[in-house]
Amino acid sequence: MTVVRVETPTRRRPGASGSSPPAAPMPTDGPLVDRFGRVHDDLRLSFTDRCNLRCVYCMPETGMTFTPGAELLSADELERIGRVARSLGVRTVRLTGGEPLVRRGVVELVGRLAGLGFEDLALTTNGMHLGRLAGPLAAAGLQRVNVSCDSLQPERFAAIRRRGHLPTVLRAMDEAETAGLGPVKVNVVLIGGVNDDEVLDFAELARRTGRPVRFIEFMPLDGDRAWRPDLVVPGDRVLEEIGARHPLEPVADELDGHAPAERFRFGDGQGEIGVVRSVTRPFCADCNRLRVTADGAVRNCLFSDDELSLMPLLRGGGDDRQLAGVFRRAVWGKRAGHGMDDPGFVAPARSMSMIGG
Ligand code: 5AD
Ligand code: SF4
Repeated sequence: MTVVRVETPTRRRPGASGSSPPAAPMPTDGPLVDRFGRVHDDLRLSFTDRCNLRCVYCMPETGMTFTPGAELLSADELERIGRVARSLGVRTVRLTGGEPLVRRGVVELVGRLAGLGFEDLALTTNGMHLGRLAGPLAAAGLQRVNVSCDSLQPERFAAIRRRGHLPTVLRAMDEAETAGLGPVKVNVVLIGGVNDDEVLDFAELARRTGRPVRFIEFMPLDGDRAWRPDLVVPGDRVLEEIGARHPLEPVADELDGHAPAERFRFGDGQGEIGVVRSVTRPFCADCNRLRVTADGAVRNCLFSDDELSLMPLLRGGGDDRQLAGVFRRAVWGKRAGHGMDDPGFVAPARSMSMIGG
């Protein structure tokens, strides 16, 4: 294996996004490593940029333009990307969107990816179509789901998600568990003044149902460009509020030591919660994640617009070795950190639904 001279950024404190990485030759074999020695073995694969909802923290209410069908990765292309990624040492895959379950043929697609033998195959969904698809998805080889749910109050839920329906999503969580896709993780994006008064209600949900609830800090990836630092509800505040009611203990993640959610279990053993402190405590130094957008671009960071398209090779007769080269170059170009706290930070051009959460 090629020996690379690396400089590891301090754990959980990214360097300045503009800092020049150390000069070193890009390895041509071995794991997908970047200039800072971070090995990339977790892939977020987006099935579509479309969605049946319009969550305020993600999409604008109107005026979204979506990638035309012909420019989306086909089922064969998605499977091929999965195979190449597997050969590069990717161990875990999360299927995303937009909303992955609005993609036609999603069950068959999941089956094809499940056949590639990843250690973990999970999917993030808004839950609207999950009730109907949970059984077939589990049978196709899906292992787990995360379901987004930002309020336990039906009217507020509908306001945040603009087209969502809370009872449908809660029922879908039950059905997913019955189908064997549990424990269902619940993703809550907290927005100051909008739903941050529900932290304890969600903690009670975690205790009552055994579903890990993950409180996610609002990131500047919303289509409306309404993000402001004061709308971020810091994970520290969440932990303090819950910890004052129920003592919490940190939990290590055996499957994924790089997982962005920091996990805590309730001292009395009844369930767990997590916080994703992407804004107040970035985990860039520990990042093992890469993304492929629905239109076939490899992105090395949610917050960087540097991306390399696989399409010219996929549709122009490129071989798998060349595709692997695109992955390697994309990872090699990764910056030390997302630079959200740099004075010159500019939100990425693509919003969350176009990148794939
Ligand atoms: N900030 C934080 N999380 C977001 N998500 C979407 N947009 C944002 C944002 N601006 C999360 C949702 C969903 C996942 C796909 O991404 O919670 O669960
Ligand atoms: Fe759709 Fe998910 Fe974006 Fe909400 S967060 S609009 S459910 S893609």
